[in-house]
Amino acid sequence: MTQPDYATLAAEAFAARDLAYAPYSQFHVGAAVLTASGRIFRGANIENTALQATVCAERVALLSAYAAGERAILAIAVVTPTDTVASPCGVCRQVMAELAPGCSVLLLSQHGEQRLTTPEELLPRTGTP
Ligand code: THU
Repeated sequence: MTQPDYATLAAEAFAARDLAYAPYSQFHVGAAVLTASGRIFRGANIENTALQATVCAERVALLSAYAAGERAILAIAVVTPTDTVASPCGVCRQVMAELAPGCSVLLLSQHGEQRLTTPEELLPRTGTP
């Protein structure tokens, strides 16, 4: 399999930040998902006054890909408005582990600092009692 074009995927995630609806946190996060078919799906965090209804950027992008019928996820890029690379929440780790096993997860700070990881590294022992 050829390597994902991480530069393009990162650029898509940066662009996706403009789509955030984050009036409560003002923390605008962008994400982009690359599928095996070559499509890219953008996502941004969408908050709600019922805070538990908030959906993180990476889940929006991943669920958009699934809703379009995609199942083979190659890579997910996430950009947070932080000076150092931030870490996905537990719910996103669980969702990535089930919906995008084995994919590459590229975490980026607002300055482009990067960390490449996987759902399995973010959520070890998935499915193991
Ligand atoms: N958030 C994301 O969208 N992705 C992450 O990886 C970290 C956190 C969002 C959720 C919430 O809207 C805001 O950032 C503050 O936590």
